[in-house]
Amino acid sequence: MSRRSGRWRRAAPSPERVLAQLALRALTPALPLARRFGLLQESVALWSRGLRQHKAWAEHHSRCRKLVAEVTAELPQRRKAVILGSGFLRDIPLNALCRGFDEVVLVDIVHLPPVRLRLLPRRNVRLVTCDLTGAMAWLAGEAEGRADPLAPLIADEAVDLVVSANLLSQLAWPVADWLEDHPERSSALPTDMPARCIAWHLDDLLRFKARVCLISDVEMVERERNGAIHDRIDLTYGVALPPEDESWPWPVAPFGEAERDREFVHRVCAWRDFRGS
Ligand SMILES: C[S@@+](CC[C@H](N)C(=O)[O-])C[C@H]1O[C@@H](n2cnc3c(N)ncnc32)[C@H](O)[C@@H]1O
Repeated sequence: MSRRSGRWRRAAPSPERVLAQLALRALTPALPLARRFGLLQESVALWSRGLRQHKAWAEHHSRCRKLVAEVTAELPQRRKAVILGSGFLRDIPLNALCRGFDEVVLVDIVHLPPVRLRLLPRRNVRLVTCDLTGAMAWLAGEAEGRADPLAPLIADEAVDLVVSANLLSQLAWPVADWLEDHPERSSALPTDMPARCIAWHLDDLLRFKARVCLISDVEMVERERNGAIHDRIDLTYGVALPPEDESWPWPVAPFGEAERDREFVHRVCAWRDFRGS
């Protein structure tokens, strides 16, 4: 197992798993930037890790779905719902959203084929593929500065609900890893780019007029079998967040997933009304 930027990786997946993941990667239409920044590979890896850890992750996913359903029930009108970091749709109550809203917009940098297949019968779902840091083209030297990835949705008066769904922490580490691998580019860029990616997303959320629900892991704890804490990593790169409404542990890598005698547990926080908190 190796880990950079607070993210662990499985060291040696089985040959069958490698083949399955290669096939899924080959079949997925993806932005060139998603490939360059390793996000297609990460999306495929996360998809299969979620299948393997279905039981261990079930409580986390069900709390997220329940929270989004409760927030939805409080809304005075339900025209358009926007889910940021929709990914594998494990943490959102998709059926309820599709029934309750005129349109559901799913935004992610990668939409894997199994997700696209699941969405085929749904008439009121729209997929948007974009980089929600807005910074990857800039980092790669293809743009002069940060793009404003959510500008069209922020301007859309019909949006009544925005959910940032276990995305926030994921915006920083690919940028941190990429800068580490490209020292010649990083010297020409602000030194705190990963933290900026987190702060930009929070600012983007505050620009919506709609109800905004934020769910994100904020800390990773690496623990030994005897309970001793080996490491503790701030996944928000020091960016301040208001007090959360609730929080819970997410055993992202239980004992045996990444290392036989270490578990990696993330602390997830949720803000039911992020603009009002
Ligand atoms: C931890 S997963 C959560 C996925 C989904 N909410 C779920 O639980 O099924 C994080 C998601 O963020 C997406 N993501 C990561 N970086 C992104 C970026 N720069 N722009 C848009 N999406 C990104 C990933 O593709 C992935 O789907």
